Amino acid sequence: MAVSSKFDVVVIGSLNADLVVKSPRFPQPGETISGEDLRIIPGGKGANQAVAAARQGVDVAMVGRVGSDGFGPFLVDNLKANHVDASNVQKNESATGTAIIVVDANGQNSIVLSPGANGKVTSQDVDSTPDAKVLLLQFEIPMDVVLHAAKRYKLKGATVILNPAPAREISSELLAHVDILVPNESELSLLTGMTVNDSASAEKAAQEVLKQGVKTVIVTLGSKGALLVTKTQLTQVDTYKVDVVDTTAAGDAFIGGFASKLLVRNRRSPTPTDAQESASHAKDLEEAVRYGCACGALATTKFGAQPSLPTKEEVERFIA
Ligand code: RIB
Repeated sequence: MAVSSKFDVVVIGSLNADLVVKSPRFPQPGETISGEDLRIIPGGKGANQAVAAARQGVDVAMVGRVGSDGFGPFLVDNLKANHVDASNVQKNESATGTAIIVVDANGQNSIVLSPGANGKVTSQDVDSTPDAKVLLLQFEIPMDVVLHAAKRYKLKGATVILNPAPAREISSELLAHVDILVPNESELSLLTGMTVNDSASAEKAAQEVLKQGVKTVIVTLGSKGALLVTKTQLTQVDTYKVDVVDTTAAGDAFIGGFASKLLVRNRRSPTPTDAQESASHAKDLEEAVRYGCACGALATTKFGAQPSLPTKEEVERFIA
């Protein structure tokens, strides 16, 4: 566990016990079908992103809540086993968050969330949490807490990365405090009110978001990779072809990998000119997106959320 009071990454978000059944297909409304044995797997977008980053070797702290049932220690122990600082994960007198997940024969999933303790996270929980170079946020905790956290960490100079999932509308106040937004196509569509179904429409919608103060938009496109859009940069990054077992947490793997690669590349210490600075920043972003794509692709080759998140060695071997 890291002892520094400034972490590379702080994640403020959800912890879920994923109750997962593999099924030949998704049931129709009113239909009952048989699947494989139930598996209980550590998940939750927040905790997944924390573990994804920690497996890339950066210092990570998780902030959130679990309930007073047996799932709480199960999730916290798994964070600790992955070297994520869990001292800011509180225990609540409610149920731990759960996700009921069906994975079909193609590795696609459908998820119903029961927020439990995640819905009880408060702004006060965030007031004395450690500083960070990068703050990762998602939408599985209350929206007012997401906004409070973005404001607080932005004021302290952190890079604020928001993954607006599950899809919700976003206030312009929140967008004004986000540096890097990482939506998928449907999330980008919901937040801009525009149709997003290919790279051209994703770029158009991303440009709208940039007008609201976000510096960088990275649209994850599943098997088509990702689109990186800034005021001066437009890059389509292809992803890797793999045999898909389960897509659960692929987006979380992308974000953890992206954030850690960005941190590592930003540790270079020359004193560049402004022009060199901006060229190297553009290159850093592109490299980090490419690395995130490798992490996301690898995560789809294994079953489950946190067990599927790749280590640094696995990613480097895969890319090589
Ligand atoms: O992103 C995947 C995650 O979404 C799952 O682990 C599940 O808990 C839901 O939060």
